[in-house]
Amino acid sequence: MSNLSLLEDQIRKCRNCRLFEGTNNGVPGEGNPDADIMFIGEAPGKDEDLQGRPFVGAAGKFLAHLLEAINLNRDDVYITNVVKHRPPDNRDPLDDEIEACRGYLEQQIVIIKPKLIVTLGRHAMNRFMPGLKISEVHGQAKRVKSDVPGVPDKIYFPLYHPASALYNPGLRGTLIADMKKIPILLRKIDKLNKKNDTQ
Ligand code: URA
Repeated sequence: MSNLSLLEDQIRKCRNCRLFEGTNNGVPGEGNPDADIMFIGEAPGKDEDLQGRPFVGAAGKFLAHLLEAINLNRDDVYITNVVKHRPPDNRDPLDDEIEACRGYLEQQIVIIKPKLIVTLGRHAMNRFMPGLKISEVHGQAKRVKSDVPGVPDKIYFPLYHPASALYNPGLRGTLIADMKKIPILLRKIDKLNKKNDTQ
């Protein structure tokens, strides 16, 4: 069993905070273990809790559409959330619940080593970049210092949450336009990494 599968199993059984109470499944995340891009949402909702898989409801459908816009599908990327069990009535995750999942998300990043981390929505963005306003920084890449010793800095790309486009259709176009910046950004990251390798 791979380290990622072991970690995913551990997450499914997690009892580190109150969130597992009343849920059907833990939702560790899924996708390509060697993905260049990791998408991080907020927390599982009702459909995700029932299936134990991230982004499988209405927001997930729109995420799949966004991926198609850059010729990718779910199997090309890794998709997870800041917290791994569904908060009751889809309330926002509390600080101590985010904290209880912190190590899991860090380990997922360490194992997958994505070139780019795309945060979906305000909560996922603020987990890595506290204090920023999504309306001001969506669609702009940010390099963030790692708080894990030995782990290099990462490039983050904040997007609005796909669910926000479902209740505010005006954001659909913004999300698609932001998403379309990703292939260009990846090419820039590759160039930068090549340059650093030869130095
Ligand atoms: N919203 C999220 O943030 N994550 C999911 O997995 C589903 C909906």
